[in-house]
Amino acid sequence: MIDKLEYTNKHELIFLDQTLLPLKEKYLKTKNYKDVAEAIASLRIRGAPLIGIAAAYGVVMGVHHYDTDNRKNFEIHFYKVTETLRNSRPTARNLFYAIERMTKVFEENIEKDFLDIEDALLREADAIFDEDAEMCKRIGVNGSELLGEKMSVLTHCNAGELATGGIGTALGIIYTAKQQGKDIFVYVDETRPLLQGSRLTAYELEENGVEFDLIIDSMAANLMRDGLVDCVIVGADRIASNGDAVNKIGSYSLAVNCAFHKIPFYVAAPGSTIDFDIKSGEEIEIEERSSEEITRIKGEKITRSDISVQNPAFDLIPNELITAIVTEYKVHFPPYNFGGLKHMFQSYISTLRSEEDGE
Ligand code: MRU
Repeated sequence: MIDKLEYTNKHELIFLDQTLLPLKEKYLKTKNYKDVAEAIASLRIRGAPLIGIAAAYGVVMGVHHYDTDNRKNFEIHFYKVTETLRNSRPTARNLFYAIERMTKVFEENIEKDFLDIEDALLREADAIFDEDAEMCKRIGVNGSELLGEKMSVLTHCNAGELATGGIGTALGIIYTAKQQGKDIFVYVDETRPLLQGSRLTAYELEENGVEFDLIIDSMAANLMRDGLVDCVIVGADRIASNGDAVNKIGSYSLAVNCAFHKIPFYVAAPGSTIDFDIKSGEEIEIEERSSEEITRIKGEKITRSDISVQNPAFDLIPNELITAIVTEYKVHFPPYNFGGLKHMFQSYISTLRSEEDGE
């Protein structure tokens, strides 16, 4: 398993700088929650679940390294920390899910000694990390049922070990199917503009001994026409109650291409990615990133500086284009109705907790 992130007993976060992969495996170390927010905003730490995990530890660090004996100031500082982390990126539900959990723990313990509050926050951050690893495992098992004995799977962006607390979501399904002895070949979209496919997914698949070809994003339809793709599996940054999903820009094109070629299009994500409070994907904020991600390659300008650029980081896949959504509970088929899932999700978290407490 790739070591992507660790919170140490010196209250520092050590994390793999994903912007430098695969050419450099460099770990950064910080005691400052603002660096965690910066690492998320700059994609040194990325992928919806990992962003949430990092933010949770950012909260613990922000509280630990703040020196006060005044309760009011302590509280004001806590909300300043969570606000800074919340503003790091807008789209992935997991970030807000993690901060909501940390805030709930803070508010439930607010009358206690500062050290006890900090301990409770650290336990919650560890739980968010461990639960995510467990959810990935279960997504892998559930999703592997969708794959036959010999399959070619196309994936976009990186929804693997590097994006989560465990083996990944979309890639977790592939790793699990491979472990079951299935013969899985992967087509990896390079994923312009930040190349999460060629830099991260290719790196991960190589590490895990999965056979793949790297392709440019615009080649996918050709492969489908030639009958070379059996299914597409992607992760998600946020899923609405009706099953609309938002994922890396280019996912919508893949779903449209799948519909045309009658190829299944699957989305894999944990319950922490589902936004139970929104009805449809139209309500999801899509992050717009810097034009320089498109007009420069490795810092070198490749266009005139004054040209107009659009650079949304994600796009919306309408539920009618999604063949199935794989979560840690089951494979969901349309029409999507996560009505009972919210409750199931909460009881699942409490089951894991009571297992941890040895109840
Ligand atoms: O901009 P990124 O690299 O954070 O985008 C990541 C994705 O779009 C992933 O597919 C998504 O977060 C799911 S990760 C399990």
